[in-house]
Amino acid sequence: MDITPAPYAHWRESELGSVTDRLEQEAVFSQVPDLKGLQVLDAGCGDGTYVIEASRRGAIVTGLDSSFPMLVAARQREHSSLGKAEVLWCHGRAEAPPFQEASFDLVIAITLLCLVQSPRQVVGELARVLRPGGTLLLGELGRFSAWAVVRRTRAWLGSGSWKQAHFWTTRELQALLDDAQLDVKSIRGAVYYPPLALCARLALRYDRLLSVLGGYGAAFLAMKAVKRQPVPLEFCIRKGTWVRRIGHRGEQHDRGDVPSSA
Ligand SMILES: C[S@@+](CC[C@H](N)C(=O)[O-])C[C@H]1O[C@@H](n2cnc3c(N)ncnc32)[C@H](O)[C@@H]1O
Repeated sequence: MDITPAPYAHWRESELGSVTDRLEQEAVFSQVPDLKGLQVLDAGCGDGTYVIEASRRGAIVTGLDSSFPMLVAARQREHSSLGKAEVLWCHGRAEAPPFQEASFDLVIAITLLCLVQSPRQVVGELARVLRPGGTLLLGELGRFSAWAVVRRTRAWLGSGSWKQAHFWTTRELQALLDDAQLDVKSIRGAVYYPPLALCARLALRYDRLLSVLGGYGAAFLAMKAVKRQPVPLEFCIRKGTWVRRIGHRGEQHDRGDVPSSA
């Protein structure tokens, strides 16, 4: 799906867009309250709204996107809203991010996986550039929502914009993260109202309360996962149980001492 900056900016300026954007950002950033000093990558950063918010919260941010026009719009937004913040903008694909292993404390990817052909490869690469113990924050389009129904109907009627978009369940996302050695820590749903400005206005106050419903009814799913730490060398698996190796040859079967990440 080709997203250009103009309709995106237009969407954010609309009442429905601004309320929705606000609730989505809140669902994402509420899961990582302290960003001060963190090295952050925003993969599929688009016109830079999440990059700029992360930067405002004190993170050192890199924005990566495969679209030059989106990066140009993001730079303009940066200059008008941040002044002298040091954001690094990179042109590239999330399937092969041009960064070394373990370069970031936090990776954000908002409505990126719904557009890519190989989400598994993308999540694997995002996990690669994340340091062990670092956090991945995903924001995705929920499948069980009125928005998904409307967008799928539009695609069915011929609208190009939503033809290739994938709508996710929390279970699918969890499986994807697990395969990439990432442990899900929290999930928040947002945007439980249908895509109408009046509903957004009315729902603004109680949408947060509905997050107890999880993915059901939510147009936006925000998920936080942490990259597993490597198991220290002194541990090994014996008969299906983690054991601590001690001495030259001997082992001590000692389940209690297994680190939490094992
Ligand atoms: C729906 S927009 C979301 C932008 C931003 N994350 C936000 O939520 O405001 C998706 C963005 O991902 C970018 N994109 C799509 N496929 C990509 C890929 N394979 N690698 C990097 N960026 C990609 C698009 O150019 C677009 O800017």
